[in-house]
Amino acid sequence: MGYEIQTEHLSLDFLRVCEAAAIEAAKTMGQGDRKYSDHVAVEAMRTVMDTVPMLGRIVIGEGERDEAPMLYIGEEVGEGVRAAREKGEPCDEIYPEVDIAVDPLEGTNLCALGANNAIAVLAASERGGLLNAPDIYMDKIVVGPSSRGLIDINASVTNNLAAIAKGLGREVNDLTVIVLDRTRHRKLIQEVRDAGARIRLISDGDLSAGISAAVAGTNIHALMGIGGAPEGVITAAAMKCLNGEIQARLVFDPERLDVDKNKVPPQEEVVSRLKEMGIDDPNKVYSTDDLAPGKKIIFAATGVTDGALLRGVRFFGAGKRTHSLVMTTESRHIRFVDTVHVEGGPDTVIRF
Ligand code: FBP
Repeated sequence: MGYEIQTEHLSLDFLRVCEAAAIEAAKTMGQGDRKYSDHVAVEAMRTVMDTVPMLGRIVIGEGERDEAPMLYIGEEVGEGVRAAREKGEPCDEIYPEVDIAVDPLEGTNLCALGANNAIAVLAASERGGLLNAPDIYMDKIVVGPSSRGLIDINASVTNNLAAIAKGLGREVNDLTVIVLDRTRHRKLIQEVRDAGARIRLISDGDLSAGISAAVAGTNIHALMGIGGAPEGVITAAAMKCLNGEIQARLVFDPERLDVDKNKVPPQEEVVSRLKEMGIDDPNKVYSTDDLAPGKKIIFAATGVTDGALLRGVRFFGAGKRTHSLVMTTESRHIRFVDTVHVEGGPDTVIRF
């Protein structure tokens, strides 16, 4: 039995990790180079991750080892990994074993264009606490605490909207649903419109959108539609902390996706890859707990550009200011953290 995760302490270390990634990404805002923005966020996240006192393992990252030099799936990170290498023996009596799902820059396009809602984000848990989701698409429905237990991804959009409205004690025409603006969502968008609810179409970033749906006061009541599966797992970790709910199902049928059919592997190939990953039922409906079964979950995100929940990085003469959300399932603290990173000398003025 290794050293137990102290989520309260580790969450503040992961805050530093997200802040560093957000600051580096924000420096590239609007430069029009999404790959470069992502690259600097990954590098910064990786560097600070190695100062976190843990034996970390990336379970959702930048891809397989041969396609990602850093934060690849299976990569071992953290101070404990370095210590173990130096000592030549495991350090699991001193450092906790932690699984980590990262998205160093969610909304690479948003950052490259200087658009709203780009974030640096990660989730962590004890070993096995986060589903090793494949990097394919996932159909999702995400709601906040009032509508938890009322949604059903197998039900019609109309029925789900009626259930969400009931949970919130309002009319369907007083709901706002976020949907990624994609051709694949034409039918979904029409159904939401026909039901009378409002829609906010977004160009990217269904992870931060899902989190907004679980926080009262954002005027977002649900996220619906198909986005990335890795984003779904990190959303689930956030839902565990916010008492929200996600229901999801993997999507690999090219007919349901607006992707070039010649560029996606045939369905049989995906199904056998899923089998190898331990997913026997590719049509399974995943609950919040299936996606993030961990008992000790940590979630951290820092705004890169301004968004519904988090402000973007602000640069001032003698430093930077970041705005983050840090939460754990154990402590029940939902922290909105406003950090001033002072770089100037003793005359630096800190503003409220
Ligand atoms: P990146 O951060 O990798 O740019 O992804 C942004 C995003 O919009 C996600 O939020 C979403 O889950 C996914 O891409 C949707 O994929 P696609 O752009 O292929 O529809």
